[in-house]
Amino acid sequence: MVESWEHEEVVTRLGRRSGVPITVAVHSRRLGPAAGGVRLRHYPTWQDGLTDALLLSKGMTYKNAVAGLPFGGGKTVIAAPSTLTPAQRTDALADAGELIASFEGSYLCGPDIGTTSDDMVYLRSFTPHAFCLPESHGGTGSSSGPTARGVLAALRAGLSTVFGSSSVAGRRVVVVGMGSVGSLLARSLSAQGASVAVADVDPSRCAGYEQVPVSYAVEADVLVPAAVGGVIGPDVRAPLVVGPANNQLVSDDVAETLSAAGVTWIPDFVASGGGVIYTLCRETSGLDHDAALARVAAIEETVHSVLNAAAANGTTPLAEAMTLAEDRLAALALT
Ligand code: PHE
Repeated sequence: MVESWEHEEVVTRLGRRSGVPITVAVHSRRLGPAAGGVRLRHYPTWQDGLTDALLLSKGMTYKNAVAGLPFGGGKTVIAAPSTLTPAQRTDALADAGELIASFEGSYLCGPDIGTTSDDMVYLRSFTPHAFCLPESHGGTGSSSGPTARGVLAALRAGLSTVFGSSSVAGRRVVVVGMGSVGSLLARSLSAQGASVAVADVDPSRCAGYEQVPVSYAVEADVLVPAAVGGVIGPDVRAPLVVGPANNQLVSDDVAETLSAAGVTWIPDFVASGGGVIYTLCRETSGLDHDAALARVAAIEETVHSVLNAAAANGTTPLAEAMTLAEDRLAALALT
């Protein structure tokens, strides 16, 4: 929950074309322009969309800070009241593009759940500050591949801490959420010899894998949350939890309950940084493919230091990752 006002700027507007409520939330620009994706999905009420934008934008501040990126945290939420027709969807994106344009570069957007690289091409007709365009349009394409790579880097660090070996071969892994990143992870983990089971509200996405019901309380060596967030409570039974979903915990105090129960939860804003790291390093900092991937691979080292610090200080990985992010934010505030 967001308990007190801490965002720099939040605008919720009823889309004039679509009639869909759209929120752009900028949590912080202390490290640079805010950056974060455009999420388009169904929410029961506009307030649910606004609340999600507040939480997700705060998560982006921490994600970008921990990754050492010169960007703050922001997010757009297009809160669809029901399934949109293709024409309504285009209108909603146009309304979002107009709103994002009004931020004049103080908020940069990319894809997120419900939007694609092709949607970023459309947003570019409203604002130059849309990233992750397809390669045919001069961008670096979908951020899902680099996001999955970052999760795999975090997973290696988690495996070596929890099981003493960074190899996933022979481990039982359950991926919950078979969207663009979840499905890449399932494929890669199977190729690495893991015993993979998957869950999704849409069973057709699970084809080719052992399917299990959508539950975060499954028995597994590794639980991979790859769907929408706010789902991990104290009932987790896997000893290691690491995945690309944003805002995974029902509330921050779950981090302590999980640690006390012997569950190693790798903070989502550390594990899920691969997409934003790769895209912005390439598209705004001019790094080449290999240099940008090296920045993604560095997530493994970050997770090692977060887990080691938590063990040494008797704290949680969440507390240590937040300290890392807050130190970066504070250091910049002093200069
Ligand atoms: N969806 C990405 C995330 O949550 C956001 C993003 C990706 C923003 C790529 C810009 C570029 O981190």
